[in-house]
Amino acid sequence: MDHQTVIVLDFGGQYNQLIARRVRECGVYCEVKPSSTPLAELRALDPIGIILTGGPNSVYLDESPKLDPDIFTWGVPILGICYGCQLMAHLLGGRVVPAQADAAREYGKTDTRFDPDCPLFRDVESTGVTWMSHGDYMERAPEGFRITAHSAACPNAAIADEARGFYGVQFHPEVNHTRHGTDMIRRFLCDVCHARRDWVMEDYRRTAVQDLRERIGDGKVLLALSGGVDSSVAAALLAEAVGPQLTCVFVDHGLLRKDEGDQVEQVFSRRAMNFIRVDASDRFLARLARVEEPERKRKIIGEEFIRVFEEEAKRIGAVDFLAQGTIYPDVIESGAGDAAVIKSHHNVGGLPDYVDFKEIVEPLRMLFKDEVRQLGRELGLPEYLVARQPFPGPGLAIRVIGEVTRDKLELLREADAIFREEMARAGEDRRLSQFFAALTNMRSVGVMGDGRTYDYAIALRAVTTDDFMTADWARIPYELLDRVGVRIVNEVKGVNRVLYDITAKPPGTVEFE
Ligand code: XMP
Repeated sequence: MDHQTVIVLDFGGQYNQLIARRVRECGVYCEVKPSSTPLAELRALDPIGIILTGGPNSVYLDESPKLDPDIFTWGVPILGICYGCQLMAHLLGGRVVPAQADAAREYGKTDTRFDPDCPLFRDVESTGVTWMSHGDYMERAPEGFRITAHSAACPNAAIADEARGFYGVQFHPEVNHTRHGTDMIRRFLCDVCHARRDWVMEDYRRTAVQDLRERIGDGKVLLALSGGVDSSVAAALLAEAVGPQLTCVFVDHGLLRKDEGDQVEQVFSRRAMNFIRVDASDRFLARLARVEEPERKRKIIGEEFIRVFEEEAKRIGAVDFLAQGTIYPDVIESGAGDAAVIKSHHNVGGLPDYVDFKEIVEPLRMLFKDEVRQLGRELGLPEYLVARQPFPGPGLAIRVIGEVTRDKLELLREADAIFREEMARAGEDRRLSQFFAALTNMRSVGVMGDGRTYDYAIALRAVTTDDFMTADWARIPYELLDRVGVRIVNEVKGVNRVLYDITAKPPGTVEFE
């Protein structure tokens, strides 16, 4: 594709994806590459700039990830962040040492003074706040560099060698806590790398359509459409590229939110492609009967999903391509190590073993979520689809605590729809990352009119988060909670109590099961 590229060289820091997202937000395309990538491979990308990320290691230890110093002779501008800054200093003759006790070790928001003559800091005031997180300390800058920022504990908080286009910051400009952090990154891209800022979704759409046409030729493509953002945008893009050759199978497992299945059908049955909606709710409910254990539910739904999809695929016959809505964070994260399995996540991604196809096509594999949404808008998908919150593959089955029945699902759907409607009316839907209702398996006594009730409790959950790995419960206005509670108890028969979940993640998780 015809655009400039910046390389984000990954040294294992926790904010590395955020760096890449910031670069893209500035209108510059970037790719994240592991720090072990051979220089020749990096060079083949013909980068206009390189960003060395943070990481958990110490540059002076033998086992820490290193960098071929030849990179400094290419004449390409380099920005080192935290570990990346220390590594650059270390390799170019500076001195990095462990901070003595608390002397120069810094974690968190830190008052910082900037040199306004440094190109990176043109948009910032001379004093500001940065986000620091380092146990090592750059004692001496390499020759040719000058010091461009400092804090109370850290005399060398940023360094610059303007002649060679090398910059280093000890803090993290990519996180929101660093005031004007994105402006610093933009300055590096525009003023140092002379980026044209040519990463524009409209162009991406055009070139992606061309590329897909070339790759697919007159082949047949099959896509499992869930109605989530990624598979919907992938479907719309493929429809534009090779519409009549594309078949989308939408397995309706009967565990979707109110009206969701019909909305998906309405949007996609009109597009120039083959759209199949499979109503499999009876099958799923039959298999879920009397099952209470969350992991068991997840497994059953995952298996049944594959079975239904496989049957449809057999009916369609051999295809050339299986399309998937994989996005860039999945690509970067694969190989993320061995974390404990808290929940076996399911989505419609992991199917290929069971279907007769030759190749996989992943048209969104280089896009971040925000970019996928932007592309969806470009492709004319309705806002309720592209702005959709994450919705788990097992659907409402993991929001009905305990056994799932048709009646309970119906009750939950109504309560959830009221919550969503009121949140949207109050404008909270744009502020929050995810919110939903869950049906607890608790029944309790209440009084309605003059009579005793013995009904279910609905739990409301609303969270704010950047990455869904951690989350905080959302402080939504009491008046809004009040309206939602009153409406649910009045309008949803079978519910006499509404609870609000005030558990962060960790120790809770976002979903209840
Ligand atoms: P948890 O409950 O693990 O949720 O804190 C984190 C995020 O992941 C979503 N989630 C899923 N997404 N398949 C998915 O595609 C799943 O099985 C699944 N389980 C949870 C959840 O909605 C939240 O956004």
